[in-house]
Amino acid sequence: MHVALTGATGFLGLRLVRELFGRHHSLTVLAHAGSGGAFERIARFLELTGAPAELIAELPDRLRVVETDLEQPRLGLPTAVFQRLADELDVIWHSAADINLDGDLAQLRRVNVEGTRQVLELAAAGCRRPIVYHVGTAFVGGARRDGVIYEDELDDAYGFENGYEQSKYEAEVLVRAWSLAHGRPVVVLRPSVLVTDLPAHPELPKHPLQFIDQIAQASLSRVDLPGIGLGGPRIPEGNRPVVRVPGHPLGHLNLMPVEHAARVMVRLASGKPSGQVDTYHVVHDHDVPATTMTAAMEQLAPIRVKLVEKRPLDPSPLETVADLYPGFTPYLNHRRRFDDTRVRTLLGPTLSGIRVDLDYLLAGVRSKKQTTASSSRW
Ligand SMILES: NC(=O)c1ccc[n+]([C@@H]2O[C@H](COP(=O)([O-])OP(=O)(O)OC[C@H]3O[C@@H](n4cnc5c(N)ncnc54)[C@H](OP(=O)(O)O)[C@@H]3O)[C@@H](O)[C@H]2O)c1
Repeated sequence: MHVALTGATGFLGLRLVRELFGRHHSLTVLAHAGSGGAFERIARFLELTGAPAELIAELPDRLRVVETDLEQPRLGLPTAVFQRLADELDVIWHSAADINLDGDLAQLRRVNVEGTRQVLELAAAGCRRPIVYHVGTAFVGGARRDGVIYEDELDDAYGFENGYEQSKYEAEVLVRAWSLAHGRPVVVLRPSVLVTDLPAHPELPKHPLQFIDQIAQASLSRVDLPGIGLGGPRIPEGNRPVVRVPGHPLGHLNLMPVEHAARVMVRLASGKPSGQVDTYHVVHDHDVPATTMTAAMEQLAPIRVKLVEKRPLDPSPLETVADLYPGFTPYLNHRRRFDDTRVRTLLGPTLSGIRVDLDYLLAGVRSKKQTTASSSRW
């Protein structure tokens, strides 16, 4: 069985590679042309995460890299190369995406929608009729803030919190239309926000909470207030400036350990697809309260976070720069749940046994060095 994967160097893709190697002898990685070093990045990830020495030694025989660009027709490959590749494949995993929540919609569409179109064209061209596993996101649920979102739902009635959600929604619409038009099965795997407690490492891809932390640190370092900013003096607990952030005190967010998500996805792929589009919510069995997220912010920056109903009309200079990541902050208002009955029906309870709490979140944002030094800094 010949398996190809886009996005293999990403936060999730690397974990998918490791899981897929447990089931398949060889993999073809459709790497991001121009990014460089895909083979080395994958090998390094396997080393850093303690993969068996045998797998690392065999990697040159088991891993093939083909450079591709999702933004180009035929993935940027010459016609004959594209056709040869298509005809070799039995399975295509599509994990590559632009995950910048605040990205420009036109650019997000180029990678996430048009890129998906190129991957579907690869699947359509292949004589072995490869099955497609499309990595979506539970956040195609859009700006709907409460209630239950079911796995088969795909609806834009509530609008979207950001361009990323919209582009991933449009990609799923495309997937459904393609499946219908070609009579081909597609499995859509929709994870929630992916997290890890693996300490940050310069050779590993960043994940969403690290982005939030980085944006926060960069913003705070620009504020001219005593003690604020990286490396500032220790601020006594009671003197920390209050930052009002829009959010619901009972808000909650689903955060899924990335390693467990990859395991669940690859297990789902061993089932027989229905022949149409099968969609699965790959989510944690417990949501994380918005107050845990704000507690994490308070651990990472010398501030006190106060959840308020609406964005303040009189923002302080600190609140102005602390509107860190406009694409993310609406999620502190969310109280919806993602139903994953179809996953549980197929796999049984998919409990990870991992508690995503404050300690877990902080472990994955700080590097090993910071974890030991941070308490003395603030
Ligand atoms: N991270 C989350 O919390 C989360 C949550 C729900 C769903 N998802 C979905 O999960 C999937 C994987 O996300 P991730 O967190 O692994 O993202 P990521 O770490 O940003 O990785 C993105 C991957 O896509 C590749 N890529 C980007 N632009 C490309 C292009 N133009 N052509 C070819 N390849 C390109 C990147 O290659 P280079 O590294 O070489 O640039 C990288 O391998 C995405 O579909 C995302 O929407 C993610």
